[in-house]
Amino acid sequence: MIRGSTITSIISSHMNKQLILVKRPEGMPEADTWNLETNEIPSIADGQFLVKQHYISLDPAMRGWMRDAKSYVPPIPIGDVMRAGSAGEVIASKHPNYQVGDFVSGWGGVQQYAVFDGSNSFKVDPNLVPLPVYIGTLGMPGMTAYFGILEVGALKEGEVVLVSGGAGAVGSIVGQIAKIKGCRVVGIAGGPEKCRYMKEELGFDGAIDYKSENMYEAIARECPEGIDVFFDNVGGEILDAALAFIRLNARIVICGAISQYNNRDDIRGPKNYLSLLVNRGTMKGMVVTDYVKDWAKAGQQMGMWMAQGKLKSREDIYEGIENFHDTFKRLFTGEKRGKLVLKVLED
Ligand SMILES: NC(=O)c1ccc[n+]([C@@H]2O[C@H](COP(=O)([O-])OP(=O)(O)OC[C@H]3O[C@@H](n4cnc5c(N)ncnc54)[C@H](OP(=O)(O)O)[C@@H]3O)[C@@H](O)[C@H]2O)c1
Repeated sequence: MIRGSTITSIISSHMNKQLILVKRPEGMPEADTWNLETNEIPSIADGQFLVKQHYISLDPAMRGWMRDAKSYVPPIPIGDVMRAGSAGEVIASKHPNYQVGDFVSGWGGVQQYAVFDGSNSFKVDPNLVPLPVYIGTLGMPGMTAYFGILEVGALKEGEVVLVSGGAGAVGSIVGQIAKIKGCRVVGIAGGPEKCRYMKEELGFDGAIDYKSENMYEAIARECPEGIDVFFDNVGGEILDAALAFIRLNARIVICGAISQYNNRDDIRGPKNYLSLLVNRGTMKGMVVTDYVKDWAKAGQQMGMWMAQGKLKSREDIYEGIENFHDTFKRLFTGEKRGKLVLKVLED
């Protein structure tokens, strides 16, 4: 365990770059939504430890956390560090269960150094998989996919699964888990390269390019017998079209609606929802943190599938905390491949 004076000597030559939320954005957030500040690295009290953050997770949910509205977590206060998942190394500790040299994943925010107390972090082992995987496939997005498709989607062998955002962090894992469970899987994504990726690399049975295809014609082609589970990450027109093709007792998992997150006006509601009545279907929202007590068990299963080569994980890593805004925008333009990650300090 390292004490205060030693910490000061180790890190005295460094400062902490922090991204501070300074206003509530309207529409797509502009760069002036945040200020990049350089501040002293915080000291730690008893029961705390200091993490040098190597990687920050960029997630569509960040857009919602900036909104001043009731949600499943309180909004980020103006003047606070931008909330984000992160992964890094413990460099000082006054916590009995965390030692210098441990690696952790948690909610460290968009900053280079963060203080934790053990309540919102878990230890990870970068010798098993690279550190960024713990904020992707073995972190929050992977857990969303796991509990979303297996618990909320109540998937059964042989069913037909349609997943929007199918080449992204959550969707790519949803489709692969459904394949492991013996389902027919069709993914929806933007552009021919992402469609190729879903079919050739992830093993999906079909792919739909929502940017160039008519959704109704494409779903009819790829799911001629209809859909048992629609896992929706996108909302809007894609949800409308999927609803028109559900089968008897279908389940629709409302995981996200990224097409609506930057709307200045009302969020668009589902159009073809009477299809739920006709087909006795259910549509259910989910929040991944509801399953946190079972994350470790799910992580073991997912890690096993990765080791067996059944589950692929792809991270797209950009560098530099000063490039946060440019990188963040890629969530909405789709100019990224796999889980979006920002490296903010060297390993
Ligand atoms: N409920 C929960 O607990 C929970 C937890 C985690 C994530 N989520 C939700 O899950 C969804 C996916 O998250 P993720 O981390 O896996 O992100 P992601 O899929 O890795 O990245 C976002 C992707 O969304 C697509 N996209 C952006 N704007 C779009 C639009 N207008 N229409 C259609 N597609 C659009 C882009 O892919 P293309 O190139 O294919 O367009 C982009 O790559 C999000 O809605 C997120 O909020 C929910």
